[in-house]
This record gives sequence, C-alpha cells and structure tokens, in this order.
Amino acid sequence: MGPSVFVFMSFTDQIEPLKQSALTELRVASDLVMLEQARVDYVGVHGKLTSLLKQLGSLPKEERPAAGKLLNQAKVELEHSLAERRIELELKAALPKEPTDFTLPGRRPALGKLHPLTQVTEDIVRSFRKIGFVVADGPEVENEYHCFDALNTPADHPARDAQDTFYLSIPNKALLRTHTSSVQIRVMEKQQPPIRIIVPGRVYRRDNADATHNPTFQQIEGLYVDKGVTVGDLKGTVEFVFKELLGADVKIRFRPHYFSYTEPSFEIDFSSALVKKMGKDWLEIAGCGMVHPQVFETVGYDPEVWTGWAFGFGIERIAMIRYGINDIRLFYENDVRFLRQF
Ligand code: DAH
Repeated sequence: MGPSVFVFMSFTDQIEPLKQSALTELRVASDLVMLEQARVDYVGVHGKLTSLLKQLGSLPKEERPAAGKLLNQAKVELEHSLAERRIELELKAALPKEPTDFTLPGRRPALGKLHPLTQVTEDIVRSFRKIGFVVADGPEVENEYHCFDALNTPADHPARDAQDTFYLSIPNKALLRTHTSSVQIRVMEKQQPPIRIIVPGRVYRRDNADATHNPTFQQIEGLYVDKGVTVGDLKGTVEFVFKELLGADVKIRFRPHYFSYTEPSFEIDFSSALVKKMGKDWLEIAGCGMVHPQVFETVGYDPEVWTGWAFGFGIERIAMIRYGINDIRLFYENDVRFLRQF
C-alpha cells in the first residue's frame, strides 16, 4: 500500500475538461430547452465557466494573464458553438413533425385565377394520372433529329420546310419544336419500357394568326409502351379521358390517316352535345396510332418484344369546345375581360 496521494488540479488545468464537457452537453441537447439549460450551466451568471472567471482575481498576479487568455478563448469557442447549435435546433423545431402530405388541397389564391388553358391542361393531366400516366417534359428548342428524323419523318416531308417551321440562326439547324412528339424520343432514349407518359407543352409553327391558327399553341402528347398493347387500349384510353373532360355523352370515331411515326395511324373525331352546339356533327381532335417499328429500332427497343401507341392533340381545341370559344387568339391576348370568365 503506497501513501495516499492528493492531486490538486491547477486552475488552468480545469479549463479544458470544463470546455469539453460543455461541448458534449451542447451536442446532446436535442431541443432548445436543453440547449438553454446547458448555456445557463456553463456561461450563465452562476455557470461553471463564469465562476472560474470570477476566481481569476484570486490567482497569483503572474498566473493571471495566461489563465485569463485561456478562459476567454474557451468562452468564445463555447459561445460560438452555442450559436451554431441554436440555429440547428431552431431549424429542426421549424420542420413539421409528421411527413408532409402533398396531396392535401392547397389554399386558394387570394388574387387572380389560372389561365383557362392551364385549367384545361390540369384537368387532362388529372384524368391521365388516374390511369397511371406520369408527366414528362422536353426542350422547346429542339434539333431536327428529335423533332423529325428519329420519328421516321423523311427529309422531304413538308413539316421540315422552312416555310412551316421556325429554324434558329444558330448552328446545327436548331428549331422550335413543331410538336411534342419529340419528347417521345427523348424519354425512350433514357428509359426502358414499360412507359406511360403524357407531355403537355408549347409548340410552334409558321402559321399566320387567324380564328383557328396561332404560331404557338399547346399540345398534349401521350405514349404507352409495353408488351401486347393494342389499338383497343388506345381507343379505351382516349374515350375515358374525353368523357371525363367533355361529358359522358361524348362519342369517339377513329378515321384512317397517315403519320410517319405510327402504323396504323388514325385521326380521332369526337361528337357530343357541345359539338352540335357549334353546328357540327364531328370534330377532328387528335392524331394517333401504333408506334412504328422503325421508331422503336431507332431508340433501341426490340419491336418484336414491345408494342405501343401514341397520340397528340391540341389543348386550345379542347378548351374552345368546352367553353364555346370561336377564336384561338383570345387565349393569347391577355384581355382580363375574357380571362375573368373562367
Ligand atoms: N405530332 C402530331 C401533330 O402535331 C400529332 C400526333 C399524331 C402525335 C400521331 C402522335 C401520333 O403521337 O401518334 O399533328
């Protein structure tokens, strides 16, 4: 048995462990109340570090400067860490406790309304979401490859004529996309089937503006690729969505047509009380068809394995029928007397 040894810790030796235990307490403080307690315990009026500061005066004169310097450094470091931890905990306190439910209805805007074309687009998207479609997007400034070549559209096709299309005066013959079909290619290049997308978006053509034409308008493209997809799926889908949009009395008719990226191709006409009101029996509304095997080859899908359909229609057309509007230009004039009605 050796003699008992009493160890007296010198004044300066107490500073570092005190600082370390303070830092640990800050770290484990899991809310602002615990953090405030830690602050009071160490740097409050009766805190442990404060009481060391108060004892400085009773130290021998020659030890005071070095001890004072150490103490001050410890205090500054602690206060800095306190402030940092406070920000972290404040952020944490501001976060919702429950995961956010993004499907809850939002607050209505206090002022203004959605443009009628936006309202119609949102309705169309909502209908397609019900049957498992997701929204895809692509650039409005396109290249000829995505807009035409990859869609099996030959170089002598009239759509590629400078008279019909806006080409940009930058290299590589960039152009404003003439249809949203270019996004079909962009999605298939990146993804493997099955694919179920819709693409709402703006397109451009060199048309003079009149009651039924505008140099820019909106389209919705659809693409469905899987095994064993048929024209029956296409018809059923189109009928479902149009009934949702324009009423249960809607009738659909498919007419044979030609598009280079689908085979067979169709134009879709529809009829309803709204169409009769406009003095017509049938209105042409969309182009569609079964995706051409060449398009699948181009994006690297095996056409022996995959089948699919695609369609594209104009959003203005649908909005015009739905609201009985007879001039497409009204959508782009931003006349509040017109917009207020929706
Ligand atoms: N791109 C065509 C247009 O702008 C519409 C269209 C037709 C889209 C047939 C398609 C389709 O996806 O299969 O007139």
